[in-house]
Amino acid sequence: MKELKILAVVIFFTAVVYFGVEPFAHSQMHPHVAPADFAFKDLGATEKKGDAAKGAETFLSAGCIGCHGVAAANMPAPMDNASASATFGVVPPDLSSAGAIYDKNFLAALIKEPTKALKVEHKFNETRPHPMIQFFGLGGDLDQEVADIVAYLQSIAPASIDDKKVFADACQRCHDMKYDKLMSTTDKTALMAYMGTTPPDLSVMIRSRGNEYLTTFINNPQKQLAGTSMPRVGLTEKAQNQVVAYMDKVGDRKKAERESLGYKLIAYMLVFTLLAYAWKVKIWKQVH
Ligand code: HEC
Ligand code: HEC
Repeated sequence: MKELKILAVVIFFTAVVYFGVEPFAHSQMHPHVAPADFAFKDLGATEKKGDAAKGAETFLSAGCIGCHGVAAANMPAPMDNASASATFGVVPPDLSSAGAIYDKNFLAALIKEPTKALKVEHKFNETRPHPMIQFFGLGGDLDQEVADIVAYLQSIAPASIDDKKVFADACQRCHDMKYDKLMSTTDKTALMAYMGTTPPDLSVMIRSRGNEYLTTFINNPQKQLAGTSMPRVGLTEKAQNQVVAYMDKVGDRKKAERESLGYKLIAYMLVFTLLAYAWKVKIWKQVH
């Protein structure tokens, strides 16, 4: 009986720490912010249905390829990385996968007004324009033209993209991932001048920030670091989960091993608990 009471007391205090103290400390260390919004509600939804075939032409006329390469459509980047760094401050990403990894509402808003979609209005204005020129339209219905461009980008994007490639397309123009031998495509000095700070290496960021923080941060950096120069990236929920999974894999290589060892350890402890119990019963039988 006494043992059971001791066990109950131990379980009670463990539960208090696990369900009460730990979550409380966690919430204090990472102040609560609204969950990630993968519908990008602040940008409004696009009701127009795009036409990919028309979009192919609109895309060319809109001048996107004056800055971006589209390897999937055999359009190489117009400049090498060094010249693009010097011209724009950051290398404009190749758009082959853009239709798959970015949300369509986000893409439409980005084409019409980059600073708003990227949430960097605090950094750019008329005297310091954003390097991505906004699309004013070709004279027809602007929303329709934009929807066509988005439909075109979706039509050329590959059906499946691996986690590392999503990271490379969405983050590597600014960030290094040294543990996986990826270096930012933009020249560091140009990037420093453009961003006002050097984007950190993301190799072990998963360990210091954790999944939850990264999920809200990438979806909207301003929520956690008000005033930061990192743009909102606009990934779909799936693509963003892929980025986080990739960061997890690179930053915590031993995780799978550790977790499988955890089960073995628990099994081992269970066996020994049973043996210890059987032993105790045997000894006490002789005493009574
Ligand atoms: C004058 C050059 C220029 C033109 C024209 C331009 N872009 Fe960009 N674009 C950029 C630069 C520079 C960036 C990177 C900005 C940054 O990371 O701060 C960018 C970023 C992007 C991104 C990535 C956004 C993200 O969330 O990370 C997409 C997608 C994109 N552009 C699509 C387009 C499309 C579609 C067009 C044509 C309608 C276009 N761009 C026209 C320069 C340009
Ligand atoms: C246009 C450049 C740019 C792109 C693209 C970009 N970042 Fe960043 N990122 C930055 C800068 C600059 C900082 C430093 C921000 C600061 O200190 O205010 C930063 C900081 C971070 C941090 C650290 C946040 C913290 O709490 O200190 C993480 C994590 C991060 N980025 C993840 C990503 C991921 C993941 C992607 C791709 C999905 C990405 N970034 C794309 C520029 C960028």
